[in-house]
Parts: sequence; structure tokens; C-alpha cells
Amino acid sequence: MSNAGLEGVVIGQSRICFIDGDKGDLIYAGYDIDDLARNTSFEEVVYLLWHDRLPKQSELDELSSQLEAEREVSDEILDLLRTFPDGAHPMAALRTAVSALGMHDANAEDNSDEANRTKALSILAKMPTLIAAADRLRKGKDPVAPKAGLNTAANFLYMLNGEEADDVRVRTMDASLVLHAEHGMNASTFSARVTAATLADIYSAIVSAIGTLKGPSHGGANSRVMDMLREIDESGQDPKEWVRDALDRKQRIMGFGHRVYRAVDPRATVLRELADQIMAGSQDTRWLDLSDKVREVMAEEMEQRGKKIYPNVDFFSASVYTTLGIDQDLFTTIFAMSRVAGWTAHLFEQYADNRLIRPRAEYVGERNRTVEPIDQR
Ligand code: COA
Repeated sequence: MSNAGLEGVVIGQSRICFIDGDKGDLIYAGYDIDDLARNTSFEEVVYLLWHDRLPKQSELDELSSQLEAEREVSDEILDLLRTFPDGAHPMAALRTAVSALGMHDANAEDNSDEANRTKALSILAKMPTLIAAADRLRKGKDPVAPKAGLNTAANFLYMLNGEEADDVRVRTMDASLVLHAEHGMNASTFSARVTAATLADIYSAIVSAIGTLKGPSHGGANSRVMDMLREIDESGQDPKEWVRDALDRKQRIMGFGHRVYRAVDPRATVLRELADQIMAGSQDTRWLDLSDKVREVMAEEMEQRGKKIYPNVDFFSASVYTTLGIDQDLFTTIFAMSRVAGWTAHLFEQYADNRLIRPRAEYVGERNRTVEPIDQR
């Protein structure tokens, strides 16, 4: 019997993440996501995912300074970014740039745990630099070099905009990075593990993951949420009517539904709160107001239709990032620069106890054919 989508299939043991989709629980290495999002930084979560415990202050300081030392990318890589065509998708740019980092790393093929941890740190430190530099170059601006003393969130916003962001914006970005850092055996993590399980190098595994995250059923959904909100706004139609019509046409409402959650995605709850904080200083609450209307009508409609479809993490990240002034096509790259923490944690596990991942398909094709000469087919 085939199991399309591998739904519910357990492919191995992991200490990194636990999800109870019915209750809406998300736990990183024993800590509830709500607790982590409110009380830790992205760097602390990276340490947690990589070491199975939260860091002491001295360990956090050491990780922060190692990340800071690894952020800059070489001139060769910046020159490569300059060759990217106008209109290249930022996820395609990121995928290509991370692949190039691997070619320039003399230790790329060393799959020892020690070498992989060094490379993971370098990739995680450089991804925000690559995203910000590629974005500035496509806008005809010079890349901004990383700035010492800033954490990942603050430094990313600085490199993107050329000026430091205020505390509320930095805290919002930081919490968003915490929320997106890990999510069990999701599609991109699985794809990273499949690549690593062939004993290919860690760069190849991360490139596979970036390619997988790009799809609209996964990380690409946050950008599609914004497409949908703009479409509703431009239609001039009542948002509730728009959603009902779309559902009647069997259209999927972006930012809703999840393979694992049959309850509200706990990350969406935290993001909705963050949205309030960031909107407090903003004149333009249009996208959040519209998101709330879509959420309300979806709750009514899903109840009536007897479906357990709730907002997921992507639903509110769209309006939060838009209010932060981030271009819509960059949303998924922010997901990637956070999720690389989880990908690499899973890769350490995979390389440490590896078995080739190789499922089978149920064959439903023809049998017992013989080759006819080509002029008789
Ligand atoms: N809007 C409306 N209906 C939805 C829906 C959505 N976003 N997501 C699922 N459904 C409906 C399906 O149409 C299906 O209904 P049916 O049984 O009447 O045919 C039912 O819910 C189950 O959907 P299914 O496709 O089996 O779920 P899945 O586990 O394969 O899909 C997603 C999960 C995430 C791909 C899906 O919910 C989706 O496409 N969501 C929108 C994209 C998105 O936000 N992705 C980000 C995930 S973090």
C-alpha cells in the first residue's frame, strides 16, 4: 500500500523537536516555543538546537562572537552575486550563493562532526549577509558589511537597510527567527537529511533544503499570503465575501492549514502578538486588520464545513514582515536564515547515525513488455 506524502511515517529518532499537532504544541529540545519566543534570543536557540541544552552566558558570548567573526563573505562571492540576472528570485539567489560557498570551502568534503559544526556555524552566519547583499545589489545599491556588536536579527536589518533598526523591530525579527528555527521532520529538513544520508557534504544538504523550502506549500507560503492580501485589497470586495467565494471555488487560502497541526499553530499566536507590538508604532495597520478579517471568516467557514484548518506561522509573518518594510519576495529567505539552525542540527544527528534513506514506490505500470523495432512502434 502506498502512502503518498509519507503522512504519519516515522523515519527515525530525534532529540531536537516534538510536535503535538492535535494540541498545538511545539517543543524544541524540551522547551515550549511560547517560552522560547518570549524569553530567549535566536542565538540561544541555535545553541539549544546544536547542543541539546541552553547556553550559559559565557557559552552564548562565545557563540555570538564566533558568528560575528564568520559573517563576512569573500569578494569572489560578492562578485558572483553581481552576475545574477535582474529579477532572479531571492531564494534562487540564496540557493546558488550557498552552493558557491561550498565550492570555496577547502573543507567542504570533510564530513566529520567537528568539521560539520564549523561549516554549520559559517553557513548560518553568512546566510543573512548573502540575502541582504543580493537584495541591495539587485536594487543597484552597494552591499553593507556586517556590523560588530549586533545580534543576527539587528545585523540583518542593518545590512538590508544600511541603518540600525529600533528595538521593537529588532526584537520582532529576533522572535520571528526563534519561531521559524525548527519544526521536526518538515519537508526541507527531510530533504536535507535525505541528501546527507548519501554522505554528500553539508553544503549540498543545505542547498537541497533551500530548494525545498522555496515551494508555496512550505516556506513560499508567506509570500503567497501577501499576494492574497493584496488581491483582496485590490478587489474592493468585502474580505469575508472574497474568502467565501474562494472556498466555494475550492481555492486554498494561503497561510491556513498544516500537515501536522489540527489546532492553531502556536507560532501564529505569538506572531499575532508581535504584530500588535510592531503596529503600535505604525500608521498603517491595513494588512493586519485585513489578516484579522480573513482569520475570522476562515474560523466561521471551517467550523461550518467541519474542517480543522487554522492559521499557520506564515499567515501573520506576512503582515509582520511587510510592516517591517521587508520586500515580499524576501520573506522566504528570512525563513531560510532561521531554519538553517534546525537543518544543521538535524544534519549533525544524521551524519552521527547514518543510514541511506531510500523508500520504494508501489509499481502500477505495465509489465512483461518486449522492445519492438523502432519503425514498428
Ligand atoms: N484553505 C482551504 N482549504 C484547505 C487548506 C487551505 N489553506 N488547506 C487544506 N485545506 C483543505 C483541503 O482542501 C482538503 O479538503 P478536502 O478534504 O475537502 O479535499 C483538506 O483541507 C485536507 O487538505 P490536504 O491537502 O490533505 O492537507 P495537506 O496536509 O496535504 O496540506 C498544506 C497541508 C499546508 C499543504 C495545505 O494546508 C495548504 O496548501 N495550505 C496553504 C499553504 C500554506 O499555508 N502552507 C504553509 C504551511 S506551514
